[in-house]
Amino acid sequence: MREDIQTIKNEALAQIMEVTDPSELETLRIAYLGRNGKLNEVMRGIKDLEPEERREMGQTMNEVKGAIEQELIYRKESLKNNTTSTFDATVPGIKPQIGHLHLVTQAIEEITDVFKQIGFTRVRYPEVEWDWYAFGALNMEEGHPARDDWETFFMDTPTHKENGEMVLTPHTSSGQTREMKRLQTPPVRMINIAKCYRRQIDSRHLTMFHQFEGLVVDKGISIVHLKGTLDYFARNFFGPNRKTRIRPYHFQFTEPSFEVDITCGYCLGKGCKLCKEGWVELGGAGMVHPIVLKNGGIDPTKYSGFAFGWGVERTFTMKSELSIPDIRMTYSSDLRFLRQF
Ligand code: FA5
Repeated sequence: MREDIQTIKNEALAQIMEVTDPSELETLRIAYLGRNGKLNEVMRGIKDLEPEERREMGQTMNEVKGAIEQELIYRKESLKNNTTSTFDATVPGIKPQIGHLHLVTQAIEEITDVFKQIGFTRVRYPEVEWDWYAFGALNMEEGHPARDDWETFFMDTPTHKENGEMVLTPHTSSGQTREMKRLQTPPVRMINIAKCYRRQIDSRHLTMFHQFEGLVVDKGISIVHLKGTLDYFARNFFGPNRKTRIRPYHFQFTEPSFEVDITCGYCLGKGCKLCKEGWVELGGAGMVHPIVLKNGGIDPTKYSGFAFGWGVERTFTMKSELSIPDIRMTYSSDLRFLRQF
């Protein structure tokens, strides 16, 4: 708000200095100081501020009003005296509008911070990846029907003898065995956030999107740790009144596997037009399959782990205070949309 007020002040002073016809000064006075003027428009938001901030903002507003009024008087006088030089070296320059981080980048930073608090380390792995890491190491042999679910883009490049073809990563699970191999011995506590690509596009699907993948491997890791982590994330990212639940599902690389749901941000679990049953789907999760642990060089008789993988854009659009009916809007370049974040 303070920046808006300063921008209005700078704009007003610059425009007043440009005036050559005194009647234009009245137009500017109404535009900036009038009942429906720009300053009063910003002032309307003051009621939502804390009392201390409200006081400070009121003071700033009065100073700015005073400065504009004074400049109007000064300019009127100088036009009357037919002064040709209007240059006032003491008037501050016009502050250029600066942008902000893209909403998906903001969401990635927020997600990273939430997981960092409980000891996860953010990692990144190649977005153009070998088939082996994207599928083979995850217990999906070549020709396995489960691969069809990932609707993958294959690269037109030579095939590697052991790793197979190159693909655009269809999911961040491709980082699982890479991280296990990198660390060699547990504990593993990774959060892998990266771009993913699939041959899909509609109001719930993007061709390029982001996923965040959690992987924890250590001695004695159980579903209880997974559920605790899910609830911790839901409380911290979505708010204290949101709950999670897990439903049985199937992924080749986790056993048992789950779909994770979160209570709907609108009805908080009661059921409404948007969610029907009170729950909305967040993403997949499960206990790491022993074959995947082995492929990562970890002994499944000694260690166990859990993993989850969710879409950043989908997760972000589920926040209760947001109402984004079409996921494709997250990549809109419409400033009226982007300025809200
Ligand atoms: C997977 O990709 C699994 N790798 C998740 C996983 C990880 C399961 C670890 C178990 C253990 P799925 O295809 O359901 O699962 O995608 C997970 C989430 O990614 C979805 O719930 C959704 O939030 C997001 N997602 C998937 N496809 C798209 C898409 N085309 N556009 C936007 N978001 C998508």
